Amino acid sequence: MADFHFVADYEALVAKLVATLPLDEAMAVAVGGDFERTGKTEAAIVRHFGLRDGMSLVDLGCGSGRLAWALGQTMRLDYLGIDIVQALLDYAATRSPRTYRFVLNRTLDIPARDASADIVCAFSVFTHLLHHESYLYMEDIRRVLRPGGRLLFSFLEFADPEHWVEFSGTVLAQRHNMLPHLNQFIERNAIDLWADRLGYEREAFIDGSAAPWGDAPNLRQALAVFRKP
Ligand SMILES: C[S@@+](CC[C@H](N)C(=O)[O-])C[C@H]1O[C@@H](n2cnc3c(N)ncnc32)[C@H](O)[C@@H]1O
Repeated sequence: MADFHFVADYEALVAKLVATLPLDEAMAVAVGGDFERTGKTEAAIVRHFGLRDGMSLVDLGCGSGRLAWALGQTMRLDYLGIDIVQALLDYAATRSPRTYRFVLNRTLDIPARDASADIVCAFSVFTHLLHHESYLYMEDIRRVLRPGGRLLFSFLEFADPEHWVEFSGTVLAQRHNMLPHLNQFIERNAIDLWADRLGYEREAFIDGSAAPWGDAPNLRQALAVFRKP
């Protein structure tokens, strides 16, 4: 198996947080903080884009389960959470319905059958991958989606001035040799090109400051919504 940068980086980050913080705090910080707020927003997004009881959802890079926790309050789903750090998956399982499944996966493939998922989401995951890694995931996600199924993923972009703080923070951390993991920006023209090559139809790009999903807060990252024809 390849030695991926993200496995070493996230394993080290989670180990350090678990050693220094109470567990709930460590598990929230490991995925960016704001466990409940962000979970509610992510849940509002997947519902807005068609998630209903009984459907099949793949949550790529599910982390410590912010989304699974929020969905699990009310939804009966065929839920599959995938991540590269076992400690995050173990914690996510403790905060989710017993029927939700959590699987460790350290490849750029999705461990699910062809045409088996109604929605695949990846919140703040391609923000930590190299472009060709995201592309490979998008390719395999298309295999896993049913015809008409949707891919939702969040991203950071230079076109949004609000995202500059993420970039300047990354520059600062790199300057002091304290960068915990890769932070990656992706521009909309690159995403459109990848999606076109892979045979997706774009449904929407949503600005990080917008929240068309109702009363849940915005995501802060931009959102891409694609459909498998
Ligand atoms: C910023 S956190 C977001 C977690 C979760 N999606 C959420 O919104 O709460 C990024 C997550 O992506 C996971 N991750 C990083 N690289 C990955 C990869 N190549 N495949 C799957 N998950 C990955 C990390 O372990 C981490 O849990």
